[in-house]
Amino acid sequence: MTLIIAIDGPSGSGKSTLSRMISRALNLLYIDTGSMYRAVALTVIEGRVDPSDKEAVVKLAEGLEINFEGDPDSLKTLIAGRDVSELIRGESVTEMSSVVSAIPGVRRAMVARQRELGKQGAVLNGRDVTTVVFPQADYKFFLTAEPNERASRRFQELTSSETSLEETLADMVERDHRDSTRADSPLKIADDAIVIDSTGKSIDQVFQEMMERISRR
Ligand code: DC
Repeated sequence: MTLIIAIDGPSGSGKSTLSRMISRALNLLYIDTGSMYRAVALTVIEGRVDPSDKEAVVKLAEGLEINFEGDPDSLKTLIAGRDVSELIRGESVTEMSSVVSAIPGVRRAMVARQRELGKQGAVLNGRDVTTVVFPQADYKFFLTAEPNERASRRFQELTSSETSLEETLADMVERDHRDSTRADSPLKIADDAIVIDSTGKSIDQVFQEMMERISRR
């Protein structure tokens, strides 16, 4: 049986950690769709492609060979076999990924790849996996939390000491706004999604809540 669990939400909502925990618990493939947009962004930066040249960015995205390797806890993102897992977490890539992910042709290419990768069953997370990539998913979750809490979670993950918590919050609010207001596949709550606000909750609490929902149906 193929089981598809789709999880959307803004940055810092706990999506990645919870997707990992759920895919491990249910022995499912884990697909972090954000990493794919980050891989496109990294290639744009490295190739010095002008992100406003949408045609060039789409062409590049269509030709990109993105793969995931390893188990959920040590999932690696590969571009044509090259491990870019760490490089795609940099701040300039984070910023650029929000820009390139607004380009419809880039989204088309990534969505096609995500459907291909996930068709045998998977836990997928992102911004449009419940609404566009797998609207018929067996379980759809929308995770959220107060912006201050999401920013402080993100801030704790950052390795560079040059950014302040205030800057992290401001950048996050800006990206959330761009991701939720773009014309193509904006971040939004699917009508039949289970919404979980993790403000003030531990990861384990949210994990239990999600697993209960999954076993209940
Ligand atoms: O989840 P993340 O921070 O790794 O995502 C990076 C960027 O990619 C983010 O700005 C939103 C975008 N994204 C998207 O548009 N659609 C997805 N399914 C996943 C991420």
